[in-house]
Amino acid sequence: MKKYIISWIVVKIALLGVFSFFVFSEFQSSNFAQVAKSPTPEIVDDKINRPTSNPFEGDLSRYDKENRADNLQIERVMNLLQISEGKTVADIGAGGGWFSAIASKRVGEKGKIYAVDINKNAIKYINERKEKEKLTNIVAVLGKTDDPLLDKNSIDAILILNTYHEIAEPIIYLKKLKQSLKKGALVGIIDREGNGDDHGIDSKTLIKEADKAGFILKQQYDFVEESMDYFLIFEVKKDK
Ligand SMILES: C[S@@+](CC[C@H](N)C(=O)[O-])C[C@H]1O[C@@H](n2cnc3c(N)ncnc32)[C@H](O)[C@@H]1O
Repeated sequence: MKKYIISWIVVKIALLGVFSFFVFSEFQSSNFAQVAKSPTPEIVDDKINRPTSNPFEGDLSRYDKENRADNLQIERVMNLLQISEGKTVADIGAGGGWFSAIASKRVGEKGKIYAVDINKNAIKYINERKEKEKLTNIVAVLGKTDDPLLDKNSIDAILILNTYHEIAEPIIYLKKLKQSLKKGALVGIIDREGNGDDHGIDSKTLIKEADKAGFILKQQYDFVEESMDYFLIFEVKKDK
């Protein structure tokens, strides 16, 4: 009888063990599934599903062509972006700092230019240019591919010149950029029509991506030359 009771208890314990094992693994797997599924649906939604161009890593002096300012009508571009004395401007994808140097003179001593790039060589190039040309109001910023690393609420105007097609995750990037803007700030984008991986991007796609990031198209021009097809000006949507 004693033997029978002991084996009955052993069987019970074994059954309890098996039961707990199944309950525990079920709990673990449902928890795990949640962890795998849940994170940041916003980021998943904001990822683009189109090709982009490889970031330029060549000779940065190629952007300093003699007639570039006239061809791009850069003075008119700056007027439309309301870049004037004392303003703080970001040059996104600054490359060799061609636009930063021009904007630096326009905003003067009281203004500031953030020359943002992801390429360390570009940052070095811009810093050397800054010394050589005595452009003390330029700050070169080594940004991240998905974040310009600019202070919140600090920028009056932005120009993204010949760079948007290289930005790997433009919606995520534009959302970050939006946080750095002061109220009423303007964002200009100059690029050429293309498929994303051919150093251009279809302007309709760009406008849709900007819309998703919380920007509204304010003005659209096609006066820019030198193989650049369009100049778009955005501002932050009122409810964003
Ligand atoms: C074609 S170059 C244009 C340079 C400059 N805007 C000009 O027109 O003289 C594009 C630059 O954008 C930079 N770039 C690419 N992706 C970037 C990103 N996510 N954030 C900042 N810069 C980026 C590249 O490193 C490169 O220097």
